[in-house]
Amino acid sequence: MPQRTCLAIVLAAGEGTRMRSARPKVLHEIGGRPLLAHVLAAAQDAGCSDIALVVGPDHAALSELAGALAPRVEVFEQRERLGTAHAVLAAKPAIERGADDILVMFADTPLVRRETLSKLRDALARGAGVAVLGFTPADPAGYGRLLTEGDELVAIREERDATAEERKIGLCNAGLMALAGSRALDLLARIGNRNAKGEYYLTDAVATARDLGLKAVAIETGEDDVRGINTKAQLAQAEAVLQQRLRAAALEAGVTMTAPETVFLSADTKFGKDVTIEPNVVFGPGVTVEDGASIRAFSHLEGAHVGKGARVGPFARLRPGADLGADVHIGNFVEVKAAEIEAGAKANHLAYIGDSRVGAGANIGAGTITCNYDGVNKHRTDIGKDAFIGSNSSLVAPVKIGDGAYIGSGSVITQDVPADSLALERSAQTIKPGWAKRLRQVQAMGKKRPKTPG
Ligand code: UD1
Ligand code: MG
Repeated sequence: MPQRTCLAIVLAAGEGTRMRSARPKVLHEIGGRPLLAHVLAAAQDAGCSDIALVVGPDHAALSELAGALAPRVEVFEQRERLGTAHAVLAAKPAIERGADDILVMFADTPLVRRETLSKLRDALARGAGVAVLGFTPADPAGYGRLLTEGDELVAIREERDATAEERKIGLCNAGLMALAGSRALDLLARIGNRNAKGEYYLTDAVATARDLGLKAVAIETGEDDVRGINTKAQLAQAEAVLQQRLRAAALEAGVTMTAPETVFLSADTKFGKDVTIEPNVVFGPGVTVEDGASIRAFSHLEGAHVGKGARVGPFARLRPGADLGADVHIGNFVEVKAAEIEAGAKANHLAYIGDSRVGAGANIGAGTITCNYDGVNKHRTDIGKDAFIGSNSSLVAPVKIGDGAYIGSGSVITQDVPADSLALERSAQTIKPGWAKRLRQVQAMGKKRPKTPG
């Protein structure tokens, strides 16, 4: 059987938002990824190769993000907010391309899973003209109710149009639905706006489908799948649901976590085999951790690659572009940014390594700083293989430390250091024999401390 084609129409126009933010609602993030990106990814995962995004008049930021995330997204503008059916019709040119299935999704409902969308598509494949996603919320107030007869869906009644009897129904409309592509335009064109809100309700697609002799069905899912986001509190709840899913998936994939409820993941975090994560670790976007690596407590990673068997933390910070090779050790209070740390190199305590390369086997002493910024530009530090950087050294970039070179502790290095040599930059040590003893004698005589006891 040839595969059915699918067009996803994602509605993002007319946000009644209480986010209290200058940022468009669907650009807020959960799991380090904008809400809109989650919805587009779910649509693609469910096999919708064609995506239409319907936006309101003020939409430059949304269109830009959509284009960057999924190059095949086509953006349509709904100039007036006349209802969900009217919004879907804004994507008419896309509908006319004739996909087998049309999935209508909301950009502010980011937790819907691929499996759930597939169930809606399966219902169409079995012959339904409309398949609606239903759920039974703890509090149904405000939702459209699903009126069913046996396994058929008869109508969706918006709360403000419902009778007292209909409002007692617990099964509600989640808003998402699938329409048979060949009938979609016909269905949508028949929808009127004679209702309490004077809007073109997409939900009326159910009644019009039945008028045309098409079957409508409801597919029930859990509340978490269909949580819509209008407030910062709902954003935080959605984040919690997503974190639970991401942690469960990581554990299922074999990651060891002693306190998974304290670990924060991003939607794109990737783990190899036998990875261990201690409590209170945060993974921002773009992190990959290879086989056998361990991330110790209270570390923060984003945009970083951790090689096989590497050890990070406790209390380490890996910023974007940190690229750790196999068996690298990055210890407590070490920050790494835009730096390749090659196999077996170590920076175990209190260091900043930015815009650098650290060669294989090199040792970075405690308190080492790569001075990469001159106030205007960033410069690179290149540290050779097996080099030894003594504690409390400043490496003023641009600077190159040769393979196997040695930097004496406390040096401020401003010139390149040849391979296998020693660079020392500090004043010579002075010794004054007996000085401390004489000081104590002077003090014991009750005298004030002289400038120097001679
Ligand atoms: C809708 C459903 C309701 C369901 C609820 C679930 C309709 C008529 N009602 O109600 O049955 O229980 O969702 O949350 O569909 N939008 C546009 N253009 C418009 C209107 C809406 O793009 O002209 C978009 C919104 O941005 C949003 C979505 O459609 O993403 C839903 O609109 P909203 O106003 O939230 O509908 P509800 O009244 O919540
Ligand atoms: Mg709503």
